[in-house]
Amino acid sequence: MIVLAVETSCDETSIAIIKRVRGKNVRFEILSHKTLSQIDIHKAYGGVYPAMAKREHAKNITQLCAEVLHEADVLVERSNDAPLSQKKKEMIEKLSEHEREMGRALIVLFEGIQKPKIDAIAVTSGPGLEPALWVGINFALALHTIWNIPLYPINHMEGHVIASLLSKKEDFFEIPEIEYPALALLVSGGHTELVRMSKKLKYHIIGQTLDDACGECFDKSARLLGMKYPGGPKISSRAERGRKEGIIVPPHMILPRPMINTKDLSFSFSGLKTAVLTRVKKQKDSTEEGITESFITGLSLELENAITDVLIEKTKQAIFEVSAKTVLLGGGVSANTHIREQMERLTKENKCALYVPEKSLSTDNALMIAATALLHIENGGKSRSKVRAKGRWRIDQPFTYQ
Ligand code: KG4
Ligand code: ZN
Repeated sequence: MIVLAVETSCDETSIAIIKRVRGKNVRFEILSHKTLSQIDIHKAYGGVYPAMAKREHAKNITQLCAEVLHEADVLVERSNDAPLSQKKKEMIEKLSEHEREMGRALIVLFEGIQKPKIDAIAVTSGPGLEPALWVGINFALALHTIWNIPLYPINHMEGHVIASLLSKKEDFFEIPEIEYPALALLVSGGHTELVRMSKKLKYHIIGQTLDDACGECFDKSARLLGMKYPGGPKISSRAERGRKEGIIVPPHMILPRPMINTKDLSFSFSGLKTAVLTRVKKQKDSTEEGITESFITGLSLELENAITDVLIEKTKQAIFEVSAKTVLLGGGVSANTHIREQMERLTKENKCALYVPEKSLSTDNALMIAATALLHIENGGKSRSKVRAKGRWRIDQPFTYQ
């Protein structure tokens, strides 16, 4: 079984091809995996600009796919030079009517190669930025239609869950069996949610943010401190420096820990961002030196501590509520070292197994989408011929076309 996966939900264009290898658990090798980041483009706008994200995905996806197909060595020698029929060309044009450049590139791709050795196509269908998702979906639909390969819509947040489980062995990756009930904390640019897993592939959201996601809070606060998008990693390395230097955060810079004492499992991060704004304004208006390096380091440390305290406290509460035996940490923010360390401490104290993704697989990538598809296929998942972008698709809902 060879799976090709496409991910375009936000600002990374990513394609992976994986091959199932024999073994008890789901095991696979990576034949090729390439990700093109648009960060440099969005930096100028201070965040991801959906129309620009869509245009960049459409511009790059076909070339990226050609490179991945080549590297994966799944191409089949052309036996004869049968040209692409007019009907198929029209189908491609129809599918890419909003991305004409992609349509033209796709026709060149299909004219140049024959159906490759691929058994399934997986595509991120939500949640995410709809214009960006549509590019990946239309691209995957074209491959599915022209090559007649089954297509599987995959939930991006489920991809982050599975990414946390991927463990690298000598020359393959494995998705291990875990003990249930399990609890996943998913922290990314668009989501902050606690998910109960009663068994394999069974999810139930038990807590989520009422406003901003914690990645968004990192990014927006970083911007207020003059750091470029994405600010999360920059705040994190500043905070790390401050912690190593042993700096003390002065009382006037202490930030709130929103909803840390509430009995429910909801989060709220927009007030935290506003609190950062107030501190920054006050520093600018009431001090002669204004925003200094030490102010930035201090506030970065305090912000990382505040976000971590809230995430850890709510996870602790959720561990008790679901009697979790396993905790999974996923999503872009799971790359954060302090959050990882505190989560290790928490799970050790509560005798839970902890799974975190390899740092390179914390942020968006197509490998996690391919692995999730493989898991679904092996557990009876059905392919679809009608797929659409679902900006708000919840992890605990099945894919529906409506
Ligand atoms: O999962 P992801 O790549 O994209 C979405 O699905 O949103 O997550 C991106 C988010 C951004 O907000 C980014 O600032 C944050 O993950 N992030 C971090 C770190 N690395 C990435 N936040 C805090 N510390 C980090 N080291
Ligand atoms: Zn993500």
